[in-house]
Amino acid sequence: AEPNEIGENSEGVRRRDFINIAALSAAGVGGAAVLYPLISQMAPSADVLAESTTEVDVSAIEPGQAIKAVFRKQPLFVRRLTPKEISEADAVPLSALRDPETLADRTKEGHTDMLVTMGVCTHLGCVPLGAAEGENKGEFGGYFCPCHGSSYDTAARIRKGPAPKNLVVPDYVFSSDTTITVG
Ligand code: FES
Repeated sequence: AEPNEIGENSEGVRRRDFINIAALSAAGVGGAAVLYPLISQMAPSADVLAESTTEVDVSAIEPGQAIKAVFRKQPLFVRRLTPKEISEADAVPLSALRDPETLADRTKEGHTDMLVTMGVCTHLGCVPLGAAEGENKGEFGGYFCPCHGSSYDTAARIRKGPAPKNLVVPDYVFSSDTTITVG
């Protein structure tokens, strides 16, 4: 028997409506999936930031010089110590330190001249100034925080002022002899 033409059409329309609605919904979900990474790149979420790494070429840093980079949106200091600064750091007894760590604890084996720290004062988060830039007015030859006067030594350990802790050494590796990867 021939199908009723009207019946078939209405059935067909109903089916197409359903298919169109399903297709639209899929597009909506797909669109959101595509947009999400774009949005998260514009304003990185904590998760995305937590996974990001920073590479720093350290080959051009001479002894006594430092460079500033950015790691997870915060300042990062990479400083090559002079032999004198290394001996100064090594000469300080742990008992004289508020947050006792040796220079060796704070650097990588075979690279004790390369000091990698966050450039964030552990008091209230200001950016300390470095001796390498001639801006350091502190007494310990490392970093000086202009906000409330915390002084860090050549191993960026807190020596005077309100900051409770040494400048933080982030996780990093020497990914080659001349490159560090932080994060
Ligand atoms: Fe650095 Fe207060 S924020 S001393």
